[in-house]
This record gives sequence, C-alpha cells and structure tokens, in this order.
Amino acid sequence: MQKMHASGEKISMLTCYDASFAALLDECMVDVLLVGDSLGMVIQGHASTLPVSMADMCYHVTAVARGCQRSLLIADMPFGSSQISAPDTFGNAVKLMQAGAQMVKIEGGAEMSETVSFLCSRGIPVCTHIGLQPQSVHLLGGYKIQGASAGNADRIASDALALQNAGATMILMEAVPAEVAARISNQLVIPTIGIGAGGATSGQVLVLYDMLDITLGKKPRFVKNYMHGAISIAEAVKSYVADVKSGMFPADEHGYGSHF
Ligand code: KIV
Repeated sequence: MQKMHASGEKISMLTCYDASFAALLDECMVDVLLVGDSLGMVIQGHASTLPVSMADMCYHVTAVARGCQRSLLIADMPFGSSQISAPDTFGNAVKLMQAGAQMVKIEGGAEMSETVSFLCSRGIPVCTHIGLQPQSVHLLGGYKIQGASAGNADRIASDALALQNAGATMILMEAVPAEVAARISNQLVIPTIGIGAGGATSGQVLVLYDMLDITLGKKPRFVKNYMHGAISIAEAVKSYVADVKSGMFPADEHGYGSHF
C-alpha cells in the first residue's frame, strides 16, 4: 500500500464477507478486501453495524481468508471491541489476525491514539476510520456528512495527524467534503482511502453489495452501480478497479461539497 501510495497508483478496495466473493475479487485484482462490519446490515439485515460481534467478524474473516490469495485482507473491529483498554483491544485484534486478517480497522479519532500505538508497536497494522463513523450513528444523529463546517473539518484533520503520529498504517475517511479529504491526504505521508470523500485520496472503497446493486432502497450518493451495463459480476468489479486506477471513480456527483 505504501509503495502504491508513493508511486501515485490508486488503491482499489471493496468489502467482502465470504470465500466465493473473496476468490472472485482477488481474481479481478482488487487490491484490498475489507471484511467490514457493514456485514451487520448487508448480510445480517440489521439497521446498523452495532449488533455485530467479534464471533461474527472472526467467522467472516476466516471465510474470506480461505478465498483470498493475493489481496490484502483488512478486518473491522466491531462495536465495543476497540472502545476499551488498549490491552483488551489488542486481545480482540489478535483474534482477527489469527482468523486471517493482515490489518485491523478501528473507528475513531485522536482519542484512539494510545490504542493505535499499542497495537502497531506489537505487530498489528491499523487502519483508522474517521469522518462518518457508523458505530457512532446514534451520537451523530444519523448517517450524515462530517467535516462540512470549518471547525469540524479542522478537528478531523487534527485527528488524522494524531493517528498518523500514533503509528496508523492507513486512514479511511467516510462522507467528508472532497476538499477536506484532499487537504487531509496532502498533510499525511500514509495512504488514505475514501468513501464519499472525493477523488484526492490514495484509494477508494465501496460496500460490495452497494456497487453490485444488491442492497435495496435509497443508497448514499457516493455509490455507483457497476452492474449497470455489465454482463457479469466479474465485469462489474473489473470496471470498478479500472475506474479507481484511472481516477474515473469517484466523479464529482459521488462526493460532497463543503458549506464554508
Ligand atoms: O464496514 C464497512 O463496510 C466500512 C465501509 C463503510 C468502508 O467500514
């Protein structure tokens, strides 16, 4: 990821929850598979990611690891598994790494610095997730754009720096204005991955079921339906990878502007 970031090659990432899709995405040259806690919504049918347990995550990580040969495998730390002491978080991260993950993802800003440092200094690469943090949906009052005011944007930017200084390997930004994500990406040396964060991040991620148009109902504006015009799932995934690499995805319509 560091090499791709340094050379300016965009990183393609998709969520993945089972062995069959893992083998297909790997074959289609997706750089990173994220076993996201979005599985609580798209697989289990919950209204949020909050009910997902460590056992659920380990089960899906094990399945994805069996199908995955080449892609980097990142596992989400589910709600409640990282908002505890750093040593207890380390214990949970170890379970995900032993299930087959090569990196864990933790939601949170500067308040997670001690935990990130604890994990990274003990051999566990950490991707942090800032901006819209779905595990905090009730605190945020819904799935809303973050960083749309100058003060909020500055806080997210200082969170990103604190997490990098704590040793984070990568930072994922969700639903932040494109120019805020660009500013944050430019101030960091580690790669950034965006979802609804414009095109200036080092890479992009989408929820697999969203881009395959499997999820019903209204989708966030940052989702593009890659099944549109595709004759197979593999063709849809390859188009996504090609669009991320060429910078065709995301287009302006998939992002948010700031209001300041
Ligand atoms: O769980 C997930 O799928 C995620 C995405 C929003 C990137 O964290």
